[in-house]
Amino acid sequence: MTKKSVLGSLFIVIVVFVAACGDNSMDTRVDVGSPASSSSLKFPVEITEDRIEAGEIIYIDNCASCHGPVNGRQVLDSAPPHGDTGHTWHHPDRLLYQWILDKPPLATLMPAFRGTLTDEQVMQVLAYIKNHWLPEIKNRQNEGSVQYEAQVFEFGTE
Ligand code: HEC
Repeated sequence: MTKKSVLGSLFIVIVVFVAACGDNSMDTRVDVGSPASSSSLKFPVEITEDRIEAGEIIYIDNCASCHGPVNGRQVLDSAPPHGDTGHTWHHPDRLLYQWILDKPPLATLMPAFRGTLTDEQVMQVLAYIKNHWLPEIKNRQNEGSVQYEAQVFEFGTE
């Protein structure tokens, strides 16, 4: 082998090595909402003071322009209010979480927040919304969320 071709093969080896590293870093990418990143993703959503506080800012910045205040009138007619008079509480937390990230089924105007909000920020905004409900509504929705989780546990999330 000439000196030139040795250098040439060395160059190829380096290129392949760098490319392989690139692939590896792709593989370790964590998908938002995947089980690997879901340590704080427990349903029903745990309502804490910290989450309520953070969720209020997220709600004002991202949701109120269409949905209005949680227990107030919606701004956009087709955006249902999230409070006691709405039907958000007719759905289990896990579905609400998925809808905020990827839009509800057949959504027309509701944007998907995947990429804009982290999964913890979605939990925070949900904690903020849920904290507005009357105690009996909160309890009913919580029961529904617990039952839904039992099914998810039985049949799997996919
Ligand atoms: C651009 C207006 C707009 C914004 C901003 C918006 N929504 Fe919506 N949302 C809608 C509309 C309209 C619907 C009804 C479905 C449809 O037609 O898209 C909806 C539906 C929903 C639903 C399902 C209906 C229900 O209440 O059960 C949830 C939950 C929801 N939005 C939560 C949120 C949250 C949380 C935010 C902020 C992070 C948000 N939305 C921001 C317009 C919006």
